[in-house]
Amino acid sequence: MSMTAARSAPRQLFVTTALPYANGPFHIGHIMEYIQADIWVRFMRMRGHEAHFVCADDAHGAPIMIAAEKAGVTPQEFVANIASGRKAYLDGFHISFDNWHSTDGPENHLLSQEIYRRLRDKGLIATRTIDQFYDPVKNMFLPDRYIKGECPKCGAQDQYGDACEVCSAVYAPTELKKPYSTLTGATPIMKSSEHYFFRLSDQQCVEFLRSWALDPARLQPEVANKAREWLEGESGLGDWDISRDAPYFGIEIPDAPGKYFYVWLDAPIGYLASLKNYFARTGRDFDAFLEDPSTEQYHFIGKDITYFHTLFWPAMLKFADFKVPNNIFVHGFITVSGEKMSKSRGTGISPLRYLDIGMNPEWLRYYIAAKLNARVEDVDFNPEDFVARVNSDLIGKYINIASRAAGFITKKFDGKLAMAWATQDDSFLSELRGAADELAALYEARDYGKALRLVMELADRVNAYVDANKPWELAKDPANNARTQEVCSRLLEAFRILTLYLKPVLPELAIQVEALLNIAPLQWSDVNHALPDQHVMQPYSHLMTRVDPKMLDELFEPPTTAVEEIPVSDIEAIDAEIKIDDFVKIDLRVAQIVDCALVEGSDKLLRLTLDVGEGRLRNVFSGIKSAYQPEQLKGKLTVLVANLAPRKMKFGVSEGMVLAASAKDEKTDPGLYILEPWPGAKPGMRIR
Ligand code: MSP
Ligand code: ZN
Repeated sequence: MSMTAARSAPRQLFVTTALPYANGPFHIGHIMEYIQADIWVRFMRMRGHEAHFVCADDAHGAPIMIAAEKAGVTPQEFVANIASGRKAYLDGFHISFDNWHSTDGPENHLLSQEIYRRLRDKGLIATRTIDQFYDPVKNMFLPDRYIKGECPKCGAQDQYGDACEVCSAVYAPTELKKPYSTLTGATPIMKSSEHYFFRLSDQQCVEFLRSWALDPARLQPEVANKAREWLEGESGLGDWDISRDAPYFGIEIPDAPGKYFYVWLDAPIGYLASLKNYFARTGRDFDAFLEDPSTEQYHFIGKDITYFHTLFWPAMLKFADFKVPNNIFVHGFITVSGEKMSKSRGTGISPLRYLDIGMNPEWLRYYIAAKLNARVEDVDFNPEDFVARVNSDLIGKYINIASRAAGFITKKFDGKLAMAWATQDDSFLSELRGAADELAALYEARDYGKALRLVMELADRVNAYVDANKPWELAKDPANNARTQEVCSRLLEAFRILTLYLKPVLPELAIQVEALLNIAPLQWSDVNHALPDQHVMQPYSHLMTRVDPKMLDELFEPPTTAVEEIPVSDIEAIDAEIKIDDFVKIDLRVAQIVDCALVEGSDKLLRLTLDVGEGRLRNVFSGIKSAYQPEQLKGKLTVLVANLAPRKMKFGVSEGMVLAASAKDEKTDPGLYILEPWPGAKPGMRIR
């Protein structure tokens, strides 16, 4: 038996994924990144290494500040709300983060300021006055993405501040014709302000980055090529503008009132902040861990943020006297049926919908793993391919091995395995065990696709063994009992080995198999520890179902609103169902409020004079005085229940009822909101 699985000393690993912006729920791209990193971390843990795996919300920056303002909450509340939705996804897809934190946590404020001070003390911070567009209505400097105008080349309207989507011209926002702020519509003015820069063009930075980024043993080849272009291109490395002026949701720069760190300065420091928070919680020494030269640090990221991670981040750490990353692992983007996903166009896969309709998270883990390699290539989610890979490979080749062997052991042999032969040389099983080192190397190199192909080749051999030995034939004749028990036991040992190989990808399934086989959690070195003779296993119960292709239709059916974006609110219960015939009895009409007045002696009512296109005016009393001044309503259109029986009230007859919305409970919202049709509707139009 080959027993070469290398026994290396336990390694100390610090692993992260990119910190997602806290401006929305996760999309399938985030989940893909977490699955990639989680497989790696789980593999490392199976090898006996210590892997600390953390992430956090990237809380700061202008877009989040503006989104919070629109939502009428503080940025802190906005971010907390997004954070509260994270767990469902992470648990749902079995992502084994040790900690989830926020870049707005106290650790990050302290660490960011500390790193800044150290860079400043090394003379690596400079200030410079720059001119920038300023929104005179909102009183803030405008990030480029909030400026639009006419393209200076082709004259196309409403083009962004950096490039034209019509003619592809690239320019500076100051070159736009008729620029305007997308926040207020105001014409921006030029205003100067002092900015802080990280002096990346300093010779010591350039030299360090050359040695770090161009070390042939480090970055993926295509990433290294990019880094070489950036470091050795015509323009070389420029200094990096790291400050933003108030108002800004971020971390204050020490000794610089009104100045904040640009979000990309404090975001990666959030990696350290999350680790620090986790270590404090679990009683470990953060400083000692980072100072230990044997600690290894790795960041999984997508290709779009390579620049920040291969240049700015290592340089910040290096010159602030922190450990620099051992490596940055860059992946491509996930596309869906060959299309780039876009939230606005509603393509892509909603991860929560995937879970809600009962799809197994491990199908996705398996599928994504099967398509991943160590290069920066995009990965396509293709529905037919998904069904085929899961059903024919995962279920057809692997799961079926257990279902074909376990039943006989339970029914005929009281769950007992016959493993006496296992001490002798066994070429069938040693072939399976012999793949352990190659598979370990593939997992470590993030070449998961190749690893899973190899596992499926091994599964093919096991299935060939099944076909050659036909346990269902053997089992017919009690004279073959010993042989039947041996063949099935051998198959279950093979299944154990394959499960071990797949465990980083299929952690929950592995737990089920461990329970079935009645064994301790599988570690990588267990590949050589065969099930003992006379070992008793549990009766077989179903491990994993096939994908029903109908589920994919359901997954792609356009939801009215992405499931995860619908907050649960405390609403009044929906009424009993009615038929369309019930609804059409109510004659709703567009009405114009031609006059509106207070009602003497009533503190609730307003008197509305309505034109419903009937050639006469109607008098309607409405209990909306608490919400509107008569002047606000004059001339507006609204909705009237036009065939309601007239009602005699203390103040006169009311000829109908106008519609208004209100909360279930006045305590949550005392407001009344009168309905108003879209522009274009005319008095008398029926609403149906
Ligand atoms: N907040 C920054 C990262 C700061 S790291 C200190 C950010 N956030 S993000 O939410 O836009 O992206 C988070 C991660 O998801 C990034 O690694 C990004 O590349 C990745 N992905 C975003 N879209 C993706 C796909 N379509 N496919 C795969 N990964 C994608 O960038
Ligand atoms: Zn143009």
